[in-house]
Amino acid sequence: MYNTRLDGLTEYPFQRLASLLSGVTPEVGPAHEIAMSIGEPQHTPPALILPVLTQSLSDWGKYPPTPGTPDFRKTVTAWINRRYGLPAGMLDAEKHVLPVAGSREALFMAGQLCVPPTKTGQTPVILIPNPFYQVYFGAAVMNGAEPVFVPATAETGYQPDYAKIPTDVLARTAMAYVCTPANPQGKIATLERLKEMVQLARKHDFVLVSDECYSEIYDAAPPPGALEACANLGGDLTNVLVFNSLSKRSSVPGLRSGYVAGDAGLIAKFNKLRSHGGAVQPVPVLNASIALWNDEAHVTDNRALYSAKFDDAAQILSGKFGFYRPDGGFFLWLNVGDGEKAAKALWAKAGIKVLPGGYLARTDAAGLNPGNAFIRVALVHDRNRTAEALQSMRRVLEAGY
Ligand SMILES: Cc1ncc(COP(=O)(O)O)c(C=O)c1O
Repeated sequence: MYNTRLDGLTEYPFQRLASLLSGVTPEVGPAHEIAMSIGEPQHTPPALILPVLTQSLSDWGKYPPTPGTPDFRKTVTAWINRRYGLPAGMLDAEKHVLPVAGSREALFMAGQLCVPPTKTGQTPVILIPNPFYQVYFGAAVMNGAEPVFVPATAETGYQPDYAKIPTDVLARTAMAYVCTPANPQGKIATLERLKEMVQLARKHDFVLVSDECYSEIYDAAPPPGALEACANLGGDLTNVLVFNSLSKRSSVPGLRSGYVAGDAGLIAKFNKLRSHGGAVQPVPVLNASIALWNDEAHVTDNRALYSAKFDDAAQILSGKFGFYRPDGGFFLWLNVGDGEKAAKALWAKAGIKVLPGGYLARTDAAGLNPGNAFIRVALVHDRNRTAEALQSMRRVLEAGY
């Protein structure tokens, strides 16, 4: 006996990659192998968390409170206010903010929170940009929703245009994901686009779930966020939830620390849901998170390091494989013609692991997978290693495969 909805889950991209590369031995030897397939920041985590994590032994002896501590909620609220210039009083730390144990788990749980058994008497829909972060699909499958994949390609500015969805589908929509800056495409949703999505969500009564975990890894300008869009529309937070995390901003994916902020009614229900079966954050982790949200110096350094790597990437790859400099995030999204073939050749010839773009997308109504021609390359290693790998990548791809 098991939940047969599990059968609807596809293999996770990294398992597919392992199958694709199994039996292929890189010519260069293990010392030269480099994983650019996974978005796990390899920058050194900020040392400032160490004393905080060890300062109180007794905190490890307590069950942590589900909604976190008042200090955590206050700190995150203050950070959001500073970052997005929200008007004082719009965001209430006690009503609009909760900690989450990493945004991945929380983005998945958003499905349990937002998807009713039916909407307008029919199967509810979750709108998903295509290509997309795979957890969104899992949320649809496990909550009995129909995933509707919406192009987020060069033609649409790499962000989905939800306003173009037929109204009968919007009427059935329970939840729509937006990812800005987008993984894997690296493009941001403009403030205008976010406002349009917020208005659409309210008009058709679905929840806009804005995944903003790359918000602090940006190039020219800080990306706008969905809470900022709400502020621009008068400050109402109805039908909007924003998820963010320290994993990328502060290079601490192992800390499992993020937040959700938005609609007070949904936040209260999320707290209820989490008190039944959500992962809570230990108090020392909440305290370390407070220290990180209160410090911007390490974030500025982190961003500068990514920016330098994108300078190198621009030098090495400019004019090739559809290279463009992403607005944010740390991925290159390169059009190499056949992502699977390229990934195999890069592994075999240079020991470079990248993810075929097709694994991050689904075949659309026209029978095309918008990721098939691409590879996703994570610039998460140090600058020299990254630049060397990009040089080798260029050589392999130019030689043909
Ligand atoms: C688009 C996107 N959202 C969410 C996450 C989850 O990050 P975390 O759970 O570490 O906050 C990731 C991680 O790679 C991601 O790429």
